[in-house]
Amino acid sequence: MDSAIARTGFTLNGAPVSLDAPPGEPLSQALRERLGARDVKVGCGAGDCGACTVLIDGAPVCACLTPAAQVEGRAVETLTGVYQSSEGEQLAASFAAHQAAQCGICTPGMMVSAVALLRAGGPVEPQTVEDALGGVLCRCTGYRKIVDAVVAAAQGADPTVAKGGAIGDAIPRLDGAAKIDGTERFGDDVAPEGALVARPIRSPHFRARFQLGDLAAFRAANPWVELILTAADVPGPNRFGVIPGFIDQPLFAETETRFRGEAVACVIGPAEEMADFDPATFPVTWEPLPHALTIAEAPEADEMHPDKPGNVMCKGFVKRGDADTGLANAAVVAEGTYETAFVEHGYIEPEAAFAEMVDGRLHVHCCTQAPVMNQVGLAGLLALEQDRFRIVPTATGGGFGSKLDLSAQPFVALAALKLGRPVRITYGRIESMQTTTKRHPARITMKVGADAQGKLTGMDFQGAFNTGAYASWGPTVANRVPIHASGPYSVPGYVARTQALYTNAPPAGAFRGFGVPQSAIALETLLDEIAAKLDLDPLRMRIDNALSNGQPTVCGQVFEQGVGIGACLEALLPAWDAARAECEAFNATAGHLRRGVGVAGGWYGCGNTSMPNPSTIKAGIRADGTVVLHQGAVDIGQGSNTVITQIFAEALGVPVGQVTRVGGDTDVTPDAGKTSASRQTFVTGGAAKAAGEALRRLILSLVNASETARLSLKEGTVRDGTATHTLDLSRLEPNAEGYVLTATESYDPPTEPLDENGQGVPYAQYGYAAQLAVVEVDTKLGTTKVLKIVAAHDVGRAINPLLVEGQVQGGVAQGLGMALMEEFLPGRTENLHDYLIPTFGDVPPIKTLIIEEPDLHGPFGAKGLGEHALIPTAPAILNAITHATGARLRQVPVTPSRLRVALKEAGHA
Ligand code: FES
Ligand code: FES
Repeated sequence: MDSAIARTGFTLNGAPVSLDAPPGEPLSQALRERLGARDVKVGCGAGDCGACTVLIDGAPVCACLTPAAQVEGRAVETLTGVYQSSEGEQLAASFAAHQAAQCGICTPGMMVSAVALLRAGGPVEPQTVEDALGGVLCRCTGYRKIVDAVVAAAQGADPTVAKGGAIGDAIPRLDGAAKIDGTERFGDDVAPEGALVARPIRSPHFRARFQLGDLAAFRAANPWVELILTAADVPGPNRFGVIPGFIDQPLFAETETRFRGEAVACVIGPAEEMADFDPATFPVTWEPLPHALTIAEAPEADEMHPDKPGNVMCKGFVKRGDADTGLANAAVVAEGTYETAFVEHGYIEPEAAFAEMVDGRLHVHCCTQAPVMNQVGLAGLLALEQDRFRIVPTATGGGFGSKLDLSAQPFVALAALKLGRPVRITYGRIESMQTTTKRHPARITMKVGADAQGKLTGMDFQGAFNTGAYASWGPTVANRVPIHASGPYSVPGYVARTQALYTNAPPAGAFRGFGVPQSAIALETLLDEIAAKLDLDPLRMRIDNALSNGQPTVCGQVFEQGVGIGACLEALLPAWDAARAECEAFNATAGHLRRGVGVAGGWYGCGNTSMPNPSTIKAGIRADGTVVLHQGAVDIGQGSNTVITQIFAEALGVPVGQVTRVGGDTDVTPDAGKTSASRQTFVTGGAAKAAGEALRRLILSLVNASETARLSLKEGTVRDGTATHTLDLSRLEPNAEGYVLTATESYDPPTEPLDENGQGVPYAQYGYAAQLAVVEVDTKLGTTKVLKIVAAHDVGRAINPLLVEGQVQGGVAQGLGMALMEEFLPGRTENLHDYLIPTFGDVPPIKTLIIEEPDLHGPFGAKGLGEHALIPTAPAILNAITHATGARLRQVPVTPSRLRVALKEAGHA
């Protein structure tokens, strides 16, 4: 044994253990890698996220900050241990009943901290929970469900859980147990023992020319190195991306890096040696070059990509009627220029993958939102047929858009292909934040006009979006925003122009809303300015302008049904009137503390814009009546495993509990498309409904029963009125997969291309939302506290209201972060210490009002929801600040320093 390595003995979940760790090795690393305790999660390795929380002698600590040697002789408990305790059991039941775990990556830290709280005894109020769990970050839930779950568990409340699983039943998520007991396996949890480790070598400069040094000498000095990869090793074109025509990102830069963190090489070696490897010792010389990071700098900067003058990657355009005339004839016009920041996705699970060769094929296990897109991307880079890859998604600890793109996967896939050995990779927190996609910063200039009654007459929208060094989903943002920038309102004259610009920032990509949250900030705050100029109530003015059935959108699309924005806005009226009165009363006496209430609306077209967008679902029935659903839509926490199973079971006519789900492994599930654009409930749900119905028809035809017959597959009967038919499935010949009956069905939403003016049918359905925010502003400090959110969301039909609430609350928390604190600055806020996301104390009570305006195309009338949840939040908060103080905000996040400037302009001392 190395003399520096010390043996440490302690108890782990009550059992004596010992391990040999080098000095300073974090306890989190030792527990996970030496003792296999994969229920301990690592989100940052720096004490910022709390995911690694364990109990040491009963006290919660961050295992990533605790050297393993320090636990000599002590008692260490992880989720696996505390789960067995009475407090753990009570909390687990309560977490499940409250939907307190979405993706589940934060859940071990939450559960362990909550057990410590309950063991301490004493009253447990919401504030106590916020204090005790305050060091653990969650990016999915918005925290309120976690608070409710812990308070209820402390009170010994019997968790009430909806039974059944029919459409509309608020059943707990079907895949929830593993998230709560710590057995869920995420991207970094699945690699086999002994897997080699890959570590990319990345540029420390925003832009640089570079030269690789003497690699042979480096290998000679480091004989443990198994492989070095560079651009020369990429078999296919050294380019990947997500949109045809915009595949522009190299796996390894060739002569010049275009953003800080871009990879130039990758070193692969055994885990122990790689843990000590310092990438600064890799032979590469850099020559920094002038760079541009902002929209303002982009047009004058050196051309970053061929044939992209002015660094304009692409443009978007929608025009309907005559905006100029509408604005010229308006009684009032409001206009402004807005700026929004890069926003980091901030999922708690960094990117992770492992790859191995199995029977001549590459198996890639990874956290992802898009397994088939990963397959396609890897096939291009590695110049292999798509079917040479099997993508096995692990649980995904949050994605929100960024895990649509390839990140870690190509490094391990290429290394495993070359070495024929398993190779793993897990990004560090800084590496994750430096190199993966962000929300596009925007610079928007908008003009809105209305007549004397407040009816909108015209809008002119110009938006520039910073797409960073590579295209990623930038074209989607540039094209989606002009369609949505009008908001869900009727406007006779409209024009919207967008462009996405290359810079030397990290690539901007998909993030919940694809640019629509940025445009909503401009529109919705200008609507409030119009209302103020006309002395109109802002909510009622929006109701007067809301789109309704039969009215054309700005793309000329006319929905004869399902337009729910009016109902969303009207649902807010009681809370709005009460909050306005309360704020007025408060402000009459409160001095430098001012309260305000703001409102904003939003809409979002579900699925791809004017493009094919199919999902396919396969299902089979075995001779013993077992029903198997092959569900390839990746559940990244939002609940598609549950919702799609509910839809399928309802269509087939069996209880949810009788359905066994498999997937989204690309070898066993057909392509259900990517988890993005609020499409899974709508599109994959549509395919699941069709598959369930097809199987049902097959069964009914076997016994010649009517459509209303009741199936009892396990008993082998079909009840049709007073008649009972025997269904003998064992007489049928099973196929190669063991199914005696199967159905495979696809659904593709009916859309049509847009013409040169953006007129056409971009989406088959939109979802609608309206939110109200109540804030308290400290006019001396410039701080804003959000006191309450009321969120009305038209989901067509709530397949599972519990999951709807979860999506809304999580989206609101992200919208709050975007409004008040989140600003990714390349090179400056590349960790979770400097980059702030909302914590327990930041997210107020959120009341969800579910509106159901059924949609013709949606399964059982359902509409998508994922993106809609945060679109109105930031503008509602900005409008509330203005209502409280008179300060007008044109830039997010509204940090205290920015707010103090605006307050001064508004006349506050
Ligand atoms: Fe320990 Fe984040 S992993 S605090
Ligand atoms: Fe908390 Fe996903 S459920 S981070």
